[in-house]
Parts: sequence; C-alpha cells; structure tokens
Amino acid sequence: MRKIELLAKSHDREGFDCGSEPLNLFLKQTARQHAERGISRTFVLVAEGAVAPKPIVGFFSLNICQIKSESLTAAEAKKLPRDVAGIRLGRLAVAKEYQRQGIGKILLVAAMGKFIEIFNAAGGIGLFVDAKDQAAKHYYEQFGFISMPANELELFLPVKTIQEALAAH
Ligand SMILES: CC(C)(COP(=O)(O)OP(=O)(O)OC[C@H]1O[C@@H](n2cnc3c(N)ncnc32)[C@H](O)[C@@H]1OP(=O)(O)O)[C@@H](O)C(=O)NCCC(=O)NCCS
Repeated sequence: MRKIELLAKSHDREGFDCGSEPLNLFLKQTARQHAERGISRTFVLVAEGAVAPKPIVGFFSLNICQIKSESLTAAEAKKLPRDVAGIRLGRLAVAKEYQRQGIGKILLVAAMGKFIEIFNAAGGIGLFVDAKDQAAKHYYEQFGFISMPANELELFLPVKTIQEALAAH
C-alpha cells in the first residue's frame, strides 16, 4: 500500500530520480522553500510503512493561479468573468524504476482530489498544466486535459471533467 504525504524533511529527496534533471532539482532544492513561502505545495507518494529517509515513488506540486478567461476555448470562456482562478499542476514526476506502472495516474487522481478540496472551499475553474514536450502533452490528453488555443503545451482540465473522473474512479 502507498500513501500521499505533504513533502517533509523525512522524505529522501536526494535519492529521487525521474530521468529529468530540472524536475529532480525542483524536488531537491526548491519544493520545500516554495512550501514555506506559500508559493506552492508538493505532495509525495511513499510506501505505507516507509521509515525516514522515506523513498519517494513520485510527486506533484500545486499552486493557485489566475487565468484570463479569454485564453480558454470559446466554449469554456462562455459566461465567465474576465479573470478567474484555477489550480496549476506545476510538476508531476515518477521515479524511473516505477514509471509505466500507473503511478502517474495515481498522482493525477490525487491532484484532482486536492483540486476538489480547494474547489469546495474557494472555487476554481479547473487544473492547468504546462506540458514540457509533445510526449507529456499526449500523456495529459489521455486524462481529458485540453490544449489552450494560444499554446498547445498549456493544458486545462475543467472542473466538470475532474468531477466525472473522480465519480468514475
Ligand atoms: C510522465 C510520467 C509522470 C508518467 O508517469 P507514469 O507513472 O510513468 O505513467 P502511467 O503508468 O500512469 O502511464 C499511463 C499511460 O500513459 C502513457 N504514458 C506514460 N508515460 C508516457 C510518456 N512519457 N509519454 C507519453 N505517454 C506516456 C502510456 O500510455 C501509459 O500506459 P502504458 O504504460 O500502458 O503504455 C513519468 O513517466 C515521468 O515522471 N517522466 C519524467 C518526467 C516527466 O516527463 N514529467 C512530465 C512533466 S510535464
């Protein structure tokens, strides 16, 4: 069994390798500082009974963001005020030895769950993500993320899709 925890000192950040150095460095050098300053929150997936330093299977980070509704598709922008709030999935990564085993999907579902907690307390139109390349874009699209008109590597998962995905899960 595995569980999602807020990143803490007890997690083995040094031992994490997802094959992408910028993502590894974010976890090692930036994630905790960002959390302390309220810039973003990072959540890690660890084995249920792990002891410190707990190996990190995967992680994601979230932050609140502001969006101009005109940057959405016309269908999504309809009836929205000019400025709206959302949640940005800033980072998502799985350790190399655990990739292609459905962990990325588990993390995305957890991120959707966190979105709903925030949505229930303060609203928000959905999750946003910047895909680092076409492969990452295709990865997100299979979960219902849609490209923004001005930049296909920026994707949006509307609240309705999130609610449906979680209801079916
Ligand atoms: C991208 C990443 C988060 C996916 O996590 P994962 O646990 O390996 O993915 P899952 O097992 O949930 O994948 C489910 C399906 O997504 C697809 N998929 C997985 N990785 C993919 C990739 N890199 N590109 C495109 N599709 C991918 C596959 O269809 C896979 O199903 P399959 O294994 O039956 O073919 C992970 O591979 C990773 O950390 N990569 C390095 C960092 C990175 O690229 N992060 C994205 C930041 S924008």
